[in-house]
Amino acid sequence: MAYKHIISCLLFVTQLLMLVTRIESKVSAVVVFGDSTVDAGNNNFIPTIARSNFEPYGRDFPGGRPTGRFSNGRIVTDFISQAMGLNPTIPAYLDPAYDISAFAVGVTFASAGTGYDNATSDVLSVIPLWKQLEYYKDYQKRLKAYMGEPKGSQTISEALYMTSMGTNDFLENYYTMPGRSSQYTPEEYQNFLVGIARNFVQELYGLGARKISLGGIPPMGCMPLERTTNTAGSYDCVERYNTISLQFNDKLKNMTVELNKELPGIKLVFSNPYSPLMNIIKRPSLYGFQVTGAGCCATGMFEMGYACSRTSMFTCTDANKYVFWDAFHPTEKTYHLIADYIVKNFLAEFNV
Ligand SMILES: *[C@@H]1O[C@H](CO)[C@@H](O)[C@H](O)[C@H]1NC(C)=O
Ligand SMILES: *[C@@H]1O[C@H](CO)[C@@H](O)[C@H](O)[C@H]1NC(C)=O
Repeated sequence: MAYKHIISCLLFVTQLLMLVTRIESKVSAVVVFGDSTVDAGNNNFIPTIARSNFEPYGRDFPGGRPTGRFSNGRIVTDFISQAMGLNPTIPAYLDPAYDISAFAVGVTFASAGTGYDNATSDVLSVIPLWKQLEYYKDYQKRLKAYMGEPKGSQTISEALYMTSMGTNDFLENYYTMPGRSSQYTPEEYQNFLVGIARNFVQELYGLGARKISLGGIPPMGCMPLERTTNTAGSYDCVERYNTISLQFNDKLKNMTVELNKELPGIKLVFSNPYSPLMNIIKRPSLYGFQVTGAGCCATGMFEMGYACSRTSMFTCTDANKYVFWDAFHPTEKTYHLIADYIVKNFLAEFNV
């Protein structure tokens, strides 16, 4: 009798312990930095033309509401938050419709049009990375005031930090504007950006972050906007840009390997969207897509932001048949597929 009692007691304690470890190892919040791939509407609240808070953006978002996400629905980090057992959407820090109680489990400081390089954020007057970090410091203060000190610090160290940027540094800045291209070779510019990314991770770590996913860049030569310019190459992906993506991702990845050795207690992963997106672009029908070379919105060849207007008679009716929503950004369906791939292949250690 006594034995039985002890055994059931032990079993109970074991189960309780398992439950506790489970809850403790899950992430407390998802905190996001980056560009339009992860902006949920911060740009609605700053003076810039890099916006998407109007129809047809958001037409497949809950409520059919345009939020400032550059897609027809949810974006990659929304799906990741949901996969982590948190909310199905991550709100924008500058959106007054949300307060610290919402931000406590997920927040994005991202700004469409930005990059690692300050000169990139200057092109469309958007929020530079250093400013996103300033907002994050402000967030920490508000979080601690809201939750109290021990709980606030715990949330900060158990949150998953995600970054996604870099494409604009090349396409919006280096290959479009004078300046950086006369200063740096493409390889030197990559090293310059990796140095900024490295400093950023170190600063985040210094502020208490431990679980960090550094995002890579997609095959940028396959964005419809770039294909449109590839008249000599029958509107195929621009190989030169895809090569830059591969090289840059390689350098970012190496940097994360180094920082994992240098910073005690850090869990830094490199989340690479290149191959999942490339797989979709190469074999669209496997995923139920019919169009890869043009976006759904308007002609799909060059429109994004204000040019992707609701009055365009060319906009497609079913975005699920399109890999890209506008000339530069994936559809919700593509984002969902990429998020699933990232959660499974790169974030598994954070989600146990
Ligand atoms: C970007 O600008 C900020 C604010 O002026 C500055 O502190 C930072 O050093 C700049 N970053 C680089 C890489 O020049
Ligand atoms: C990354 O590291 C690997 C292994 O150390 C090395 O072979 C490769 O050249 C590095 N790549 C870059 C771009 O630095």
